[in-house]
Amino acid sequence: MLTDEERDKIEEELRNYPSRRAGCVEALRVVQEHRGWVADEHIVDLAPMLGMTVHELDEIATFYPFIFRKPVGRHVIFVCDGLACWVMGLDAVIEALTHWLDVSWGGTTKDGRFTLLPVACLGECDRAPALKIDNDVYGGVSAETIETILEKYT
Ligand code: FES
Repeated sequence: MLTDEERDKIEEELRNYPSRRAGCVEALRVVQEHRGWVADEHIVDLAPMLGMTVHELDEIATFYPFIFRKPVGRHVIFVCDGLACWVMGLDAVIEALTHWLDVSWGGTTKDGRFTLLPVACLGECDRAPALKIDNDVYGGVSAETIETILEKYT
């Protein structure tokens, strides 16, 4: 069940949108900010607040890769799965990441530190291959630089 604090914050954010439905992604983001992810029960709680059906809100929540529908690690690594990144050597970056973290796509490290997720183009094609960790975007990533980047996140 959503807390009063979450409901208040959602109501505050919804005032910035022309309709309650239009603010649905922001409402999902608020829940995720408080809980780390958005569970089915939160979709059920949230949908009537937004004037939406549970099915409608669930479709939106599962469409956006930055809304997590399962628990994730303390840091989420979004690896660009776009063409430019593949052309520029993404396969070596993925190999280094999966080796270093000992996880596959969608997986979370045993210590709960990282979750590894693919994402569509990050808009950094001129610096491919690219990845995003939490809110930080890195371009020109290579198998040689990945360990140094990951060491910044504890
Ligand atoms: S294809 Fe990877 S950033 Fe655009």
